[in-house]
Amino acid sequence: MNDMGTARYGIDAYLDWVAAEGVPVTEAIGVQLHHVRTAPWARYGMDGGVVHLRGRGDFSNMMVLNIPPRGARAPLRHAYEDVIYVLEGRGNTEINLSDGRKRSFEWGEKSLFSIPLNAKHRHFNASGQKRARFATTTNLPLLLNAFHNVGFIFDNDYDFVDRTGTDAFYEGQGNLITVRQGNHMWETNFVPSLEDIQLQAYNDRGPGSMNIKIVLADGSMHAHVSEMKSGTYKKGHRHGAGFHVMCVLGKGYSLAWYEGDADFTRLDWEHGFVFPPADLQFHQHFTTSPTPARYLATAVGGIRYPFTAANRRTYLGAKPGEKGASSTSIKDGGDQIEFEDQDPRVHQLWLDEMARAGVEPKM
Ligand SMILES: [Fe+2]
Repeated sequence: MNDMGTARYGIDAYLDWVAAEGVPVTEAIGVQLHHVRTAPWARYGMDGGVVHLRGRGDFSNMMVLNIPPRGARAPLRHAYEDVIYVLEGRGNTEINLSDGRKRSFEWGEKSLFSIPLNAKHRHFNASGQKRARFATTTNLPLLLNAFHNVGFIFDNDYDFVDRTGTDAFYEGQGNLITVRQGNHMWETNFVPSLEDIQLQAYNDRGPGSMNIKIVLADGSMHAHVSEMKSGTYKKGHRHGAGFHVMCVLGKGYSLAWYEGDADFTRLDWEHGFVFPPADLQFHQHFTTSPTPARYLATAVGGIRYPFTAANRRTYLGAKPGEKGASSTSIKDGGDQIEFEDQDPRVHQLWLDEMARAGVEPKM
């Protein structure tokens, strides 16, 4: 006799929650978020769906949420962190702070923001004709598996007063915190448009490479925006799982492969496409557009609160101010492939794609 069938073991409290919510789940290596399947989702008071991509790792997920024309999402608070990227539409978000004050800001396509942890908030669509669609990256898998209690996450009245931030953080302003190239931070709660956010030179990743790390609502979620100038591409590198890479501007593609693989996985992108490279999977981003290409990456564990030893290695050097492994050559013990060390097929493929696109290569 044993208790097989009734014994409680091997439980993933997050996946159990997803199944109980009864909304569509999209599973893929990468996906076009504009077309992800959604259905009415009672908890959020609007249509939504869950996105589980192969490289998401243990801690993060993505959700797609729609606000109907002239609609408002039900007021909500939750003790997980999210990084919301506006894929489509325009509207505003109201946040009730624990001291009774309100904050609100107007967002549009390509805005990025975070709700301060567990703050009551509500989203409104300003259009009478078009839906608004959010793609949110969250640490809900981490939290549900830590506490395995849905009420603790969605019915928790603790006020994290230290997460409020300044008034300016809700007005599209922020603080630039300079550390070293590749590690400069923009601290805020709301970025009106990722097309306009000012980036900083990150030549360690390649000539013309630009980057800014974004610290949102003093959370431990990561966000960064990177840019490649037309006619260039970035060096290949690897790190831990869960960095959801989303195209914001321009066109291009990424290659992904594991050390020793005979071939590459190729992912073509345009606005709304997302894929997270898997744990220690090398990946490299290429633009083929005549204008600069930008992408956003979101993950659990950022440069302020790295959260894991893997992220510490990725972002931070051995001493303060030194570069991390993702900016250091694999020849020197890091995780970046310098141009002179890359597989010759990588550059040739890009030259072929540039010729096809009629764009002049500058490398
Ligand atoms: Fe990466």
